[in-house]
Amino acid sequence: MSSVISKRTFTVAGNWKLHKTPNEAVAFLREMVSTVGSSPDPQLVIFPQALAVDQACRAVHGTSLSIGVQNINEAVEGAFTGEISARVARVLGCRFALIGHSERRRLFHETDEDCGRKILTAQREGLVPVLCVGETADENRSGQTATVLDRQLAAAFAVGDVDPSLVIAYEPVWAIGTGQVAMPEQAQASHARIRQWLRVRIGDALAERVPVWYGGSVKADNALELAKQPDIDGFLIGGAALSSTSLAQIWRKAHDRGR
Ligand code: 13P
Repeated sequence: MSSVISKRTFTVAGNWKLHKTPNEAVAFLREMVSTVGSSPDPQLVIFPQALAVDQACRAVHGTSLSIGVQNINEAVEGAFTGEISARVARVLGCRFALIGHSERRRLFHETDEDCGRKILTAQREGLVPVLCVGETADENRSGQTATVLDRQLAAAFAVGDVDPSLVIAYEPVWAIGTGQVAMPEQAQASHARIRQWLRVRIGDALAERVPVWYGGSVKADNALELAKQPDIDGFLIGGAALSSTSLAQIWRKAHDRGR
């Protein structure tokens, strides 16, 4: 990766979790293609469930929209029943892979070290990893947010030679699906902390290029203030990305953020 600093692209990403059939995904994506038109700002990325990825990739082919997978295995093939291959995701046309979403960590016991290995696999296979980090409500209340973020980043980067071409998604666990969004200044402080950690680890110039997305109860009515924060480079949206109307509203707010 070149060390020339370029402007970070703002991204609006929808994580559909275990929702939408392939047909529903295609209909939704067609609507979004007409909302976004040929505008590359903000870039729009959708993470459908794995069984809808193939049709989703076909539906956005040749447009400015991108598709990602919600999880990968660190292995790309072998005896791993039920797992998702980064290599196949790439072959189908995916550009991104979520790594270590808090639901994967909590419900499926993924560790920071698992995340590190998955990042390496994603990068080797040509996917951009989106490493999800964030503190729980208890950790937030006891003032441990910065410590938790530092630990999650350090452990994931310690596994191997991580390339700086990745995305970090700051998703405070207490804000996910709760309607309790982080205040813009609070989110900005965590994003600045993440950027600071990256500066120390990979140097100022590369750290400036790593997009840091915010996730956790993003809605049309809080998107603009969040999008205006200097270190918030995108959104990872759950509930509000299930309706094309609300996702289009958020996309427009992000589009207007500089005005
Ligand atoms: P909500 O937007 O529903 O809070 O979900 C956030 C999330 O988990 C995105 O990955």
